[in-house]
Amino acid sequence: MEQPRDQWATKLGLILAMAGNAIGLGNFWRFPYQLASNGGGAFMIPYFIALFFLGIPVMWIEWTIGRYGGKYGHGTLGPMFYLMSRDSLKPRGALWLGVIGGLLGFSVASLLSSYYYQIIGWSAAYTYYSLTGAYFGQDTYKFFVSYISNTNAVLFFWGLTMVILGIAVAQGVSKGIERWVKVMMPTLYVFAIILVIRALTLGSPVKPEWSAIKGLEYIWRPDFQTLSHNFFKISLAAAGQIFFTLSLGMGIIHNYASYLGPEDDVALSGLATVSLNEFAEVILGGSLAIPIAFAYLGPEKAIKSGVGLAYMSLPNVFMNMPAGQIFGAFWFLLLWFAGFTSAIATYNYLVAMLEEDIHIERKKGTWLVFIWLFILGLPIALDKTLLVLTDMDMWVGSYFLVILGFFDVVVGLWLFGIDRFWEELHKGAYINIPGWFKPIMVYIAPLYMLILLGGNTWDYIKNGVITLSPAYIQDLVKNQALVSTTEAYAKHAVTISRAMIIVVIIIGAIEAYMAIKKKYGEELEKNEVLIRV
Ligand code: PHE
Repeated sequence: MEQPRDQWATKLGLILAMAGNAIGLGNFWRFPYQLASNGGGAFMIPYFIALFFLGIPVMWIEWTIGRYGGKYGHGTLGPMFYLMSRDSLKPRGALWLGVIGGLLGFSVASLLSSYYYQIIGWSAAYTYYSLTGAYFGQDTYKFFVSYISNTNAVLFFWGLTMVILGIAVAQGVSKGIERWVKVMMPTLYVFAIILVIRALTLGSPVKPEWSAIKGLEYIWRPDFQTLSHNFFKISLAAAGQIFFTLSLGMGIIHNYASYLGPEDDVALSGLATVSLNEFAEVILGGSLAIPIAFAYLGPEKAIKSGVGLAYMSLPNVFMNMPAGQIFGAFWFLLLWFAGFTSAIATYNYLVAMLEEDIHIERKKGTWLVFIWLFILGLPIALDKTLLVLTDMDMWVGSYFLVILGFFDVVVGLWLFGIDRFWEELHKGAYINIPGWFKPIMVYIAPLYMLILLGGNTWDYIKNGVITLSPAYIQDLVKNQALVSTTEAYAKHAVTISRAMIIVVIIIGAIEAYMAIKKKYGEELEKNEVLIRV
């Protein structure tokens, strides 16, 4: 007998949890720098196109797959993909899709956490440094470098973040995650709104021609010319951002949706998740980092800040702002909350896996996952160049997500059956999705993803990313390492990242294979479907 599965206690709790899952560092840290480094108004055009043709369809698909898996007691991708493929492929064929889903879900949840939790840790540190005014009057670039090089501080703030995450996850879905997000998400919105009002009333504190409004113009004035010159690069970046910010291709939307009842709405709820996230991203996220940096640093520096926008540029702003210690703390605490309520989802994915596949009790599972994520995070925490993080993010933070998203369509629509999927999506639905959306989900979205993957792969080959060409290693040393380093070190860092990825993939594949075999062994033996709920 299956033990009864935890479920979301309230609709509001579910929506806030999903919004918390999606709204993360992606919205307030990644979005602004992607926007700035891809031409502002030029980026927004492919961004909205990707939102419509990829974001919304894949969100619906993942909610539907997740709720379906939950019905069978599963919150992870291996068994979910198996179950949905077994009618058209027979159990033995479906097993392979289960393995693919399982290895992707496990790898993304593990590896994404290994570096994302670090960045949340930085936010904790910077909240503290804002309150104490530690970086005030200092060179903020040097300050950041000295923080990253201070192993004790890095380990402390990262460890602290992990312990609090562990406490929340150990309490379970309805009694833990749901309660935490009910406090954190409204607070996050309030912080963000206060900061936006502050940002938009800054005026021109440094030079008359620099202002926050200029920053908004940079974002919102459509720039077709820049777009046409860098069409492929900007479109790839925009679609990658849509995946990342909506938590698509990570297994964590599926996981949260698995805690629904079989007749709970997914159509309107999925759309609500997208809307809440996009409000937090383009309206709130878009009105913070860039406009503030435009007012205090001027357009040129604001646009050039790149990855460092949140941690290296904005501190300059806070130290020159009235009550900057408070506003700085608000900003970094906002980042911490946003990151935390996302991180809880990847953490829960791994705990659910132990719980469901190996029957390890949640509390124990939580601390086992803690150890696992600590081991994976250590090479990143100890790397002062941040090259391990950079390499890992390049593979996991965009490439893997799109592969997983593509398999969502293969399994959830093509193998499960398009009409069956449509029916499943509409079970208990509060809205009717118009029929013309079907071809978008069945053909356009997967084609879009294949083009993205092709473009990305071509890019990696051309730049020698895969083979670690000397030119690529030089680029890492010159342009990507946080502190000056040697080619030998860069090679070493990237090799560590790749080795970690390979090991985690192998473990994920074996785990999924064994879990499916264990639970559906009889079906696999006879190669016919026996278990149905
Ligand atoms: N959507 C999340 C964000 O924007 C992505 C994410 C979720 C990343 C969970 C890591 C862990 O940040």
